[in-house]
Amino acid sequence: MQKLQLTLAIIKPHAVKNPVALSYIRHVMKNKFIVIKTKRVSLDTESASRFYKEHVGKFFYKRLITFMASGYIDLHVMGHSNAIQLWRQMLGPTSVYKAQFQDPNSLRSLFGISDTRNVAHGSDSPSSAEREIKFFFPEFSFYEWHNNEEPLYR
Ligand code: TYD
Ligand code: MG
Repeated sequence: MQKLQLTLAIIKPHAVKNPVALSYIRHVMKNKFIVIKTKRVSLDTESASRFYKEHVGKFFYKRLITFMASGYIDLHVMGHSNAIQLWRQMLGPTSVYKAQFQDPNSLRSLFGISDTRNVAHGSDSPSSAEREIKFFFPEFSFYEWHNNEEPLYR
């Protein structure tokens, strides 16, 4: 029996405001993943900067932070045996333009507006998933989850 891998999905502000995008995303999410925790929050620019600190100094950083602090975002901790890769695959390429050519049915192709407003975030490795889940859900214990939730293992 394989343990669930966890990832953090963040639905970005423009998609939270778009009922069609939001219901479609929730549908595909629930179809593939066990959704373990969900929370709607709004970030101030200071928290958004801390969350995206790996991108400090890049040309899009300020635009990204301003956007992520511009409205509500939906957070989802999701489990699947291959959660990190599967969710990023469902998102498609970071660039919406690329997504539309390479993967027309991906979420970023369907609902992305620009490279910054590209629908959703997904953790890119087990260590970033752990950091990102703790960032938004400091009370969440990976250790307890993996040791207590046996019936949910896939
Ligand atoms: P990155 O971690 O490279 O992409 P991903 O979200 O696919 O892991 O970048 C983080 C976010 O920064 C990305 O989702 C949107 C924004 N961004 C831009 O606005 N322009 C860009 O050229 C890139 C690479 C990212
Ligand atoms: Mg990334």
